[in-house]
Amino acid sequence: MYTAVLLFAFVCWTASAHADHHQPCRSPNMTGSLSVMGGRAETKAVGLFTYDSMNKKLRFQSNSSLPLNVTLDLDLLVFFEEGILYKIDSKNQSCEKKALQSRKHPFALPSDATFMTTMTSGSAFIEGEGLKFQIWTTPTPGFKGQSIMCTTMGCLPLSTIFVTDSSMFFFSNMNIELDIKDPDVLVVPSFCQGLRVEDTPEGTVYGFFDEFL
Ligand SMILES: *[C@@H]1O[C@H](CO)[C@@H](O)[C@H](O)[C@H]1NC(C)=O
Ligand SMILES: *[C@@H]1O[C@H](CO)[C@@H](O)[C@H](O)[C@H]1NC(C)=O
Ligand SMILES: *[C@@H]1O[C@H](CO)[C@@H](O)[C@H](O)[C@H]1NC(C)=O
Ligand SMILES: *[C@@H]1O[C@H](CO)[C@@H](O)[C@H](O)[C@H]1NC(C)=O
Repeated sequence: MYTAVLLFAFVCWTASAHADHHQPCRSPNMTGSLSVMGGRAETKAVGLFTYDSMNKKLRFQSNSSLPLNVTLDLDLLVFFEEGILYKIDSKNQSCEKKALQSRKHPFALPSDATFMTTMTSGSAFIEGEGLKFQIWTTPTPGFKGQSIMCTTMGCLPLSTIFVTDSSMFFFSNMNIELDIKDPDVLVVPSFCQGLRVEDTPEGTVYGFFDEFL
C-alpha cells in the first residue's frame, strides 16, 4: 500500500513536471518593439507591435526613418485566427489583403512547440544579473527549415530564429508591456475594407515570415 501511494505520488510529480516542461505556454497581451535581422546581419525592420493574444491579432509598424539603416518599411495588420494579413500603406491609403497558409509568427508559441531546455542568459548566481528563459523548437510545415523560440518563464517571447534553406531571420522582442496601449491599431482601416483576398500562387505557402524576405 505504502509503495502504491509512493508510486502514485511519483507518477503525479513526474506528470506535473512533464506538463510544466512540455505544454507550450500562452503569451499575454503585449505592446512592445520588434526588430528583425536577416541572414547577412542586415536590419530588415524595427518598429512597434501590439499583440492581442486572446483574439490572435497583431499590428506591426516598421519605421524606416529610425537611424538604423532599416531596409523595410512595413505596416502589417494580421488576424492569425482568420488567416488574413493586411499590408497597409497609410500614406497612399492603399491596402493588400492576403490569405495566410502558415499561421506561424514570433509573438506566441504555437501549440505544437516542443520544449528543449531552460537556460540563463547572463548569470544565474548573481541577483538581478540573469534572465532565465526556455528554448522551444517549432515545426515549419511547408518549409524545409527550422524554427527555435525563446520565451521568458512568464511566456513573453524573447526571440525567434526562423531558418529555411534559402533564408534566415532573427526576430527579437523588446520593451514589452503587458497590455494593449491602443486598441484602434487592431481595427481594419476604412480604406482596407471590402477588399478581395489576393490569390496565393499555386503550390506556395505564404506566412507572416514571408513579408521579411
Ligand atoms: C487582451 O485584449 C483583448 C482585447 O483586445 C481582451 O478582450 C482580452 O481580455 C485581453 N486579455 C487579457 C488577458 O487581458
Ligand atoms: C519614426 O522614427 C522617426 C525618427 O526617430 C520619428 O520621428 C517618427 O515619429 C517615427 N514614426 C513613427 C510612425 O513611429
Ligand atoms: C545600409 O544597408 C545597405 C543594404 O543592407 C548596405 O549596403 C549599406 O552598407 C548599409 N549602410 C550602413 C551605413 O550601414
Ligand atoms: C501607391 O500605391 C500604388 C499601388 O496601389 C503603387 O503603385 C504606388 O507606387 C504607391 N505610391 C506611393 C507613393 O507609395
